[in-house]
Amino acid sequence: MLCELNHQVVCIDTDTAKLKQLKSNRIPFHEPGLEELLNRHLSRGSLSFTSDTGQGVRESDILFITVGTPSKSDGSTDLSQIKNVAETIGSNQNGYKVVVNKSTAPVGTCEKVHRWILERQPRKLPVDVVCNPEFLREGKALYDALHPDRVVIGAENGKAARFIRNLYDAISCPKMMTGLRTAELIKYSANAFLAMKISFINEIGRLCDAHGVDVTDVATGIGLDSRIGSRFLKAGIGWGGSCFPKDLASLVHMFEQADLSPRILEAVRQVNDTQVEYYLRQLEERLGDVRGKTISILGIAFKPDTDDIREAPAIKVIQALHKKGAFLKAYDPVVFIHRAPTGLPVTLCSEMSETFEDSDCIFLLTEWKNFLHFDWKSHRHRMRTPLIIDGRNALDQNALTQYGYIYYGIGRVYSKLASL
Ligand code: UGA
Repeated sequence: MLCELNHQVVCIDTDTAKLKQLKSNRIPFHEPGLEELLNRHLSRGSLSFTSDTGQGVRESDILFITVGTPSKSDGSTDLSQIKNVAETIGSNQNGYKVVVNKSTAPVGTCEKVHRWILERQPRKLPVDVVCNPEFLREGKALYDALHPDRVVIGAENGKAARFIRNLYDAISCPKMMTGLRTAELIKYSANAFLAMKISFINEIGRLCDAHGVDVTDVATGIGLDSRIGSRFLKAGIGWGGSCFPKDLASLVHMFEQADLSPRILEAVRQVNDTQVEYYLRQLEERLGDVRGKTISILGIAFKPDTDDIREAPAIKVIQALHKKGAFLKAYDPVVFIHRAPTGLPVTLCSEMSETFEDSDCIFLLTEWKNFLHFDWKSHRHRMRTPLIIDGRNALDQNALTQYGYIYYGIGRVYSKLASL
């Protein structure tokens, strides 16, 4: 993104194998459009890679911290990678630097970064720390980076804040200047709010099942209220990935540290944590005992356009069904190519059509486009029981029912809107 905005960028990392891969224009994960962009900027010379951390620090005016902040077992955030980077910056500082933290980290982290840098400086040098949280989604990273809804810049020093704001001059969106702690909390609150919208509609979905109401119509009806908005109201198997679960755990931990009870956040997590169970009950109501039955999983990634399987609902479903004695087959158009998960108790299919063969149920868990446009009609007869559990409310229920499938999606009854 910074290269696209005509800035000169040096990526500093100690993982030489990864750097080698990137220098030869290969991205170690699946992100649409990223390889083309890498290629463009490598050949223009606007992007370079180095494992020489000292030189990287000395030659840069602005240093972005973009390392992982994984969860610890108590939900708190492991800041060791951030600390390591801050100390490396301090030890190699040779003049004024602006250090920008982009890694998602608890309130107060930027102040710690400032302290860690100062502690390692060879002599007293000026440094400002800025918090510039990231709001991009995996799978849509390029679009989100270049078309953000807002840019948030947290700082204690106006000059440093303006310096960073200038980097985004070419992007037209609101740019919010605020304090460090506020910027840190905005990031967590945004993710928690989005997860709350999803858990909310998932809970309403359960009530829709009980009353024969279509949850997609309810979502449309409330989403048209501009105070609510229509996005992130797609009911399904629940949220996963590397951000929402980790960030909610961290936010809950922050509440506990402040002696406060995060009641809404706990409920948001509880609905999500019980959603797989809820779907398995629906499956068993339709198929009976799953022991000895063959169930095919469509989609492993936590959402389409990524090969990320961290906290993916598909993994939880596979483990639960395996425990209940089902035989499992699985197909994902990207995950098995890039990052074959080891130890998953499934037979991997190399094509989607193989998942139908002698299967008692197809369980869709990632709404990849090619699943939606598949020729479902011609493959029904290959299944032993033509049951479809649509974990993403993504398939055409009416068409599938016409083809003779038994369909279940949360809160999906025959849509009255569709019949008008
Ligand atoms: C999320 C946020 O959307 C980004 O703004 C943020 O920058 C990022 O976390 C981060 O903190 O780095 P991401 O985890 O890539 O992005 O994925 P989302 O598109 O938010 O989806 C998260 C989960 O919610 C997925 O499992 C998705 O399937 C699910 N989801 C999403 C629903 O079940 N229903 C919806 O309506 C939307």
